[in-house]
Amino acid sequence: MNSSTTTSGLTFDVRLSAQRKTPQERAQLLDNPGFGTVFTDHMVAIDYTEGEGWYDARLEPYGPLTLDPATAALHYAQEIFEGLKAYRHPTGEAACFRPDANAARLNRSARRMAMPELPEELFLGAIETLLQHDSEWIPTQPNSSLYLRPFMFATDVGLGVNHPSRSYRFVLIASPSGPYFSGGIKPVTVWLSEDYTRAAPGGTGQAKFAGNYAASFVAQSQAVEQGCDQVVWLDAKEHRWVEEMGGMNLFFVFGSGDDARLLTPPLTGTLLPGITRDSLLSLGPELGFPTEESPISTEEWRRAARSGELTEVFACGTAAVITPVGHVKSKDGEFTIGDGGAGPVTMGLREELVALQYGTRPDTHGWVRIFD
Ligand code: PLP
Ligand code: COI
Repeated sequence: MNSSTTTSGLTFDVRLSAQRKTPQERAQLLDNPGFGTVFTDHMVAIDYTEGEGWYDARLEPYGPLTLDPATAALHYAQEIFEGLKAYRHPTGEAACFRPDANAARLNRSARRMAMPELPEELFLGAIETLLQHDSEWIPTQPNSSLYLRPFMFATDVGLGVNHPSRSYRFVLIASPSGPYFSGGIKPVTVWLSEDYTRAAPGGTGQAKFAGNYAASFVAQSQAVEQGCDQVVWLDAKEHRWVEEMGGMNLFFVFGSGDDARLLTPPLTGTLLPGITRDSLLSLGPELGFPTEESPISTEEWRRAARSGELTEVFACGTAAVITPVGHVKSKDGEFTIGDGGAGPVTMGLREELVALQYGTRPDTHGWVRIFD
């Protein structure tokens, strides 16, 4: 059955897949989906042309995109993306955590990359349309969810580089996913990258721009060669000030028990303004932890870890949720945070955040949006 879904503005045309997975096939795929490797039956796409605006919003079968080899995105990397999750709440409803914040960040990224903004109601309408048809793909095992990947890329055909593309496509795909790091909530070991820079002032670091990730792989490989799980990015000028991790922001916990306080590096323009980070800036004080945005250097990190003042460090992001950092390596040697394990502040914040996301605790912030 093909039908249409209307949101304010555009109508999403619904073109259902003739090859939907059977409930048995789906159950098998949902059993152990890993991260970002299994995809649902459908995707949403919306096109844009300068002068005409956004048009042809549609749900269509998930499948390959056919692109001219001279498509601008393939040459000049005008491509941005978002990441958020749909959770199955105990009420049976499908819910997302702060999707309006993802819509706003997509548009900030779009402005930086000279791309058109997508109206928030189209961003949310795309999620609603996809979940109306594919919400059986939301896994129900603990720590699992349906990872949503909205992205937008330049579709002009031609090699001229004097102006940005005049046409774009927005696409939303969905991937049932288990934990980002296999092996449970195990502390990660990180490598302080002094050879490579992720972002410089005036650059693209605060945009969720595909090229930032392309430029990060060589440093991530170096981290792995050094026996680490993840790379930590430092500032471009002094290679001293801590910015963020691979696809996550960082929090530092000083002190313990009633005296614990949290610190996260400020948004200097070179790091991604994480929605999880922003949520923790509210949740920290609500749980009784004074929380500040303040620069921290690698020397201070090392010194405070050795003196015991720094008790825990964790990374946070949509995919990784909250992941403890147990051990740090750099050209100057290595050190351990606390006892190297997952600390109580980290785990307490994680429990609070996850409870809000999975709907097991009341949403007093207006962060949860129900989609069906
Ligand atoms: N930093 C980078 C570079 C990221 O890719 C991400 C993931 O989106 C984050 C931080 C965390 O952002 P969020 O909490 O919005 O997922
Ligand atoms: C996310 O957490 O959504 C991310 O984008 C991180 C990574 C998978 C790129």
